[in-house]
Amino acid sequence: MANILVTGSNGQLGSEFQKLSEKSGHEFIFTDIDELDLTDHHEIERFFENKDISFCINCAAYTAVDKAESEIENAIAVNVSAVRNLAEVCNSNHTVFIHISTDFVFDGSNCQPYVESDKARPINVYGQSKYDGEQQALKENTKTIIIRTSWLYSSFGNNFVKTMMKVGKKNDTLNVIFDQAGTPTYAVDLAEAILIIIEEIQTKRIDKEEYFGIFHFSNEGIASWYDFAIEIFRISGINCMVNPILTKDYPTPSKRPHFSVLDKSKIKTTYGLAIPYWKDSLSRCIKEIKHQTKDQQGEE
Ligand SMILES: NC(=O)c1ccc[n+]([C@@H]2O[C@H](COP(=O)([O-])OP(=O)(O)OC[C@H]3O[C@@H](n4cnc5c(N)ncnc54)[C@H](OP(=O)(O)O)[C@@H]3O)[C@@H](O)[C@H]2O)c1
Repeated sequence: MANILVTGSNGQLGSEFQKLSEKSGHEFIFTDIDELDLTDHHEIERFFENKDISFCINCAAYTAVDKAESEIENAIAVNVSAVRNLAEVCNSNHTVFIHISTDFVFDGSNCQPYVESDKARPINVYGQSKYDGEQQALKENTKTIIIRTSWLYSSFGNNFVKTMMKVGKKNDTLNVIFDQAGTPTYAVDLAEAILIIIEEIQTKRIDKEEYFGIFHFSNEGIASWYDFAIEIFRISGINCMVNPILTKDYPTPSKRPHFSVLDKSKIKTTYGLAIPYWKDSLSRCIKEIKHQTKDQQGEE
């Protein structure tokens, strides 16, 4: 059993940990900004006192990709300064720091899946702030595990899956971008993978150098946002036609990489992980969303 701190625990990924914790043998502490504001170094130091936290999973982030272009200071405060604070305090408490990062550290010019050693070249404020946060975490704590993920969705929070299910019911046709390719990631799969990583580090009890550093994790396979939308409608039985459009025909404040598929070989071999195919995970998530909707309707 380990004491595990999950920060940003009201977000998509954090909420999945809250759910998984019910059947895990670990002792979890969940915090979000109201209980622990990570931009406050002293608050974190005080929070760690007498808690013997073995692992800290940082799910907190500034994730509004477009807004970040005009709210640079906020993005840096949460994605860089707060990460440095947490990594420093983890280091002085001998806590393994598990930090989540993004495929948006890449510029998208690759034509094959990105490996961890590929050069990061962010093309938007969010991506740059996440990359700078990675650097701070690695510098401040040698026991840092950075997991870059992509296109995260969950039955909790707001995301592409839930938006498509909502707007697809109200529209006969939707335009969706088809010249950005990546891999969707179900937050449950990522949360379960992180618990396996913790298990592996705990049971082996060896400080193997290869356990730490940067890793890539998404579901298996590849899709465009167009493919993703089509599959969401197919699985959820929504009758909405999808038109493929180009990025240039859907202008956004922030630039996005055209290709950000992640190569997962390193995390699979280091930790013995098996990763589900994105369409299978999407089916499980949509089933869960429908289940939650039924429960809510039952409560009303
Ligand atoms: N979503 C994606 O598509 C995606 C893709 C690739 C990587 N990622 C990464 O995956 C991780 C998890 O993402 P997610 O989608 O689960 O994020 P999320 O739903 O946006 O949750 C982030 C949580 O962090 C909290 N937070 C913000 N500032 C904080 C602070 N100063 N102190 C403590 N907590 C704070 C947020 O609270 P408020 O809501 O009150 O601000 C929110 O509850 C992030 O590192 C993200 O960068 C996400």
